[in-house]
Amino acid sequence: MQKDVSTTSQGQAELSVGGMFDRIAPTYDLLNHVLSLGIDCAWRRRVARLVAAQNPARVLDLATGTGDLLIAILRERELSAEIVGLDISEEMLKIGRRKTERCEGADRARFVQGDAMDTAMSSESFDAVTMGFGIRNTHDASRTLAEIHRLLKPGGTAAILEFSLPANRLWRACYLAYLRWGVPLIGALVSGHWRAYRYLNTSIEGFHRPDAFCRLMEQAGFANVAATALTWGIASIYTGSKDKPTEGS
Ligand SMILES: C[S@@+](CC[C@H](N)C(=O)[O-])C[C@H]1O[C@@H](n2cnc3c(N)ncnc32)[C@H](O)[C@@H]1O
Repeated sequence: MQKDVSTTSQGQAELSVGGMFDRIAPTYDLLNHVLSLGIDCAWRRRVARLVAAQNPARVLDLATGTGDLLIAILRERELSAEIVGLDISEEMLKIGRRKTERCEGADRARFVQGDAMDTAMSSESFDAVTMGFGIRNTHDASRTLAEIHRLLKPGGTAAILEFSLPANRLWRACYLAYLRWGVPLIGALVSGHWRAYRYLNTSIEGFHRPDAFCRLMEQAGFANVAATALTWGIASIYTGSKDKPTEGS
């Protein structure tokens, strides 16, 4: 069982990220779709199509939460992959399991509790690893990327969906106003957890810019790293592959 409260270097107790997601789990899906006006579903479908195009046999969805990205991948018709969803929050996983039971191909999906930075899973055991809006929440993005790289088979693909800030200054200003005031207000009204939705905007603003995140992926060992901006840059899909060893090496 994860710890609900962690201690900062200053010795102050703070709610762990997993504990925070346990609390907002019941309203997470509703708020996700309301706050993004439903665009998040299209973003996940795009990741799912990208993964399906690689025709993987085994897929790992890290920080799977309530399973929306996992379900989008499961729904890809031409794909018959086994999919594992991993998350640190048991409450998010409970909802993910319930939702997935109703889906076609549910027997190909399995959920496990764990830490994306240190999954304890076998190296080179997945053809594709996905992560939707999760890497920003892990304490150390570089460590998470190194773990994803370790878990991928040579030739495998990582597809990471994450919020980003638009490059256009006017659009960024409008988006930031919504993030700083609109999101915490709507979040508090629906979930009763103002702090969690305040965390959303601070974590998005504090996250790496797309070019810096691409460099982190390269430092973690990924090849063919690319960022694709979605909806004028309010989210990005980052892709990278794990090189196959060259002959003779
Ligand atoms: C914003 S939700 C995203 C859920 C889902 N992927 C989606 O697309 O809606 C972030 C998820 O990351 C999980 N999380 C945060 N830190 C984690 C970690 N270190 N390891 C695994 N999951 C983590 C949280 O519990 C939460 O379910």
